Amino acid sequence: MILITGGAGYIGSHTVINFLNAGKDIVIFDNLENGHIETVQTLQKIGSVKFEKGDLRNIEDIEKVFEKYDIDAVIHFAAFALVGESVENPAKYYRNNTFGTLNLLDTMIKHNVKKIVFSSTCATYGEPEYTPIDEKHPQNPINPYGASKLMVERIMEDYDRAYGLKSIKLRYFNVAGCDSKNRVGEWHEPETHLIPNILKSTFTGGQTFKIFGDDYDTPDGTCIRDYVNVEDLAEVHRLALEYLYKENKSDVFNLGTEHGDSVKNIFDVCEQVLDKKIPVEVVNRRAGDPAKLYADSQKAQKILGWKPEKTIQESVQSAYNWEKFMNGVCVK
Ligand code: UFG
Repeated sequence: MILITGGAGYIGSHTVINFLNAGKDIVIFDNLENGHIETVQTLQKIGSVKFEKGDLRNIEDIEKVFEKYDIDAVIHFAAFALVGESVENPAKYYRNNTFGTLNLLDTMIKHNVKKIVFSSTCATYGEPEYTPIDEKHPQNPINPYGASKLMVERIMEDYDRAYGLKSIKLRYFNVAGCDSKNRVGEWHEPETHLIPNILKSTFTGGQTFKIFGDDYDTPDGTCIRDYVNVEDLAEVHRLALEYLYKENKSDVFNLGTEHGDSVKNIFDVCEQVLDKKIPVEVVNRRAGDPAKLYADSQKAQKILGWKPEKTIQESVQSAYNWEKFMNGVCVK
């Protein structure tokens, strides 16, 4: 059985579907602070999914799960992931993302479970010294979110040396889109991310979409990011676990499309896919946004055999289908 922490959340739920499609039995562990019970119920209709509500900050909660189920490996998503919030409230990030993961790893070692795929982030790199960013780029996070994840990466390396814990650290760039069958999707409250925010502004009562700054040192003045489709991203977790079973070796991979899109590009794609005009205004820069982030993902492609396949248009279309469902414009 595979334990997926944070499986009721955005990337976690799409990864659960990917594993179910591969015939795996899953147990989800989630405190439902950002995840949703409705998502768990949907996943339980798709395949063999057990659910345990609990919080990694309480070691007893996770200990019970390892006592109850025969767990072979862990895919670890459960984390808070808002850069701005992490600056305001670092304790929340270090306690949950770092200390919570320590509880998880200690419980794994105790139960002799030694394979984990970890959801890390390109925020561990900080302000880029060069692009595209490869795995050798120096890691100097500029916010507590990135630091909380980098600490976990380091702990995992030490736990490998000391206890033989094998980990694959996946450093995601920006994630976009939703399940192509519209069963699960991006469901954050509040929503801060670019694509859902653009799409939300098309619904009645929606607000004007705000571009955070058009005076960056980029061709159109808006920030450039690398948007990888969530189903493509889900697939690489399965490949990473297969690699762990086959090679029994720790490693780290950047996950992006190797293509940068500016905020304005994404806005244009949204207008094209929706075939609608979207109300927009340019406002001040958001604190802590680097001008340009995109990945060198050659290592994941060569070693794991991963290939991101979906286009940004497909990601925006699936995200729009989900928004329509969430706004009651269509039903599943
Ligand atoms: N943006 C806007 N308007 C909005 C929302 C976003 O202009 O309403 C801009 C941002 O300023 C940024 C870009 O769109 O330039 C992307 O912003 P997101 O909030 O969608 O994503 P981030 O790049 O800030 O953060 C995401 C994840 C983090 C992760 C990071 C890695 O939320 O957890 O990618 O790049 F660390």
